[in-house]
Amino acid sequence: MTLRLGSTPSDIAQAAALLRAGGLVAFPTETVYGLGADATDAQAVARIYAAKGRPAFNPLIAHVATIGAARREGVFDALAERLAAAFWPGPLTLVLPLAAGASVCELARAGLSSVGLRCPSHPAAQALLKAAGRPIAAPSANRSGHVSPTEAAHVMGDLAGRIDAVLDAGATEVGIESTIVGIAGGRLLLLRPGSITRAQIAAAAGAAVETADGSDAERPASPGRLAAHYAPATPVRLEAREVRAGEAFLAFGDAAVPGLSHARAVLNLSQKRDLTEAAANLYAYLRRLDAAGASAIAVAALPRTGLGEAIVDRLRRAATTETFEE
Ligand code: TXA
Ligand code: MG
Repeated sequence: MTLRLGSTPSDIAQAAALLRAGGLVAFPTETVYGLGADATDAQAVARIYAAKGRPAFNPLIAHVATIGAARREGVFDALAERLAAAFWPGPLTLVLPLAAGASVCELARAGLSSVGLRCPSHPAAQALLKAAGRPIAAPSANRSGHVSPTEAAHVMGDLAGRIDAVLDAGATEVGIESTIVGIAGGRLLLLRPGSITRAQIAAAAGAAVETADGSDAERPASPGRLAAHYAPATPVRLEAREVRAGEAFLAFGDAAVPGLSHARAVLNLSQKRDLTEAAANLYAYLRRLDAAGASAIAVAALPRTGLGEAIVDRLRRAATTETFEE
């Protein structure tokens, strides 16, 4: 049985008690819903992997209520301090060297000597983290291989019966996962693009942002970037200029393309070409078109600058048919 909770103080207290007892609670953040467990408890963290059906252990992000709590887990250099001051609480994850005496368990870090830390701004997430009083490990609250949930109903569709509770606070605002920046040896590495753009990171840090190129032979820098992570079941065709027979169409801006009238289904990420609106709609629309029984989902071209970098990154992964041992 999965409890459906709201975000009243008593619901938050109940959710926090479940987390402290080693349970699994899905909760909203400003990006997507996360599947939370006590990050200091390896057994609780193991339940996350089991519920998601992940084929292997990925490092998870540890969520904290304050920068003070984050400093107990990761080593903050000047760059990390600047980025946290500029963007926390908010949709930025910092991957930092593990601090001495850190409480996040090894399983949550997948054995790495670094830790992914995020201080979310969503009021329900903030309240839950404060009430739990410890770092909460939380990947996106979807079954492995599915797109991330932006509504509690998506979480229930994927995980009902496999988790203890879901805290429902409506649709999430940003709609795509946090920007992930790795900091090591005074260098900034963009591990996953997100709603906080590369240019915003560089400006706040006063330093160049390098791109993770996966050249680290030993481990991919951020395994969750691996392609098939976000794929719907229906094939996805990118930069479509027309709708082919049997296809559904995911438009951006002007939807008037050849073949539109015989599309199986049509949704527009943003009629007015607003990338923020497009990000917020992305996963819910992919889910809806995935259910349309189309031969493929044709997706219109989007700009690749600013927030477009993150949206195009997620669409590319939705389009790949490669599978990975994650
Ligand atoms: O917006 C978000 O970030 C959402 C919400 C729930 O916070 N969470 C999320 O988690 O997207 P997940 O597990 O789907 O993606 C976490 C990413 C993965 O790509 C993982 O590899 C990376 O963070 N990551 C976490 N810790 C890491 C570490 N120590 N080193 C490298 N990558 C790390
Ligand atoms: Mg995910």
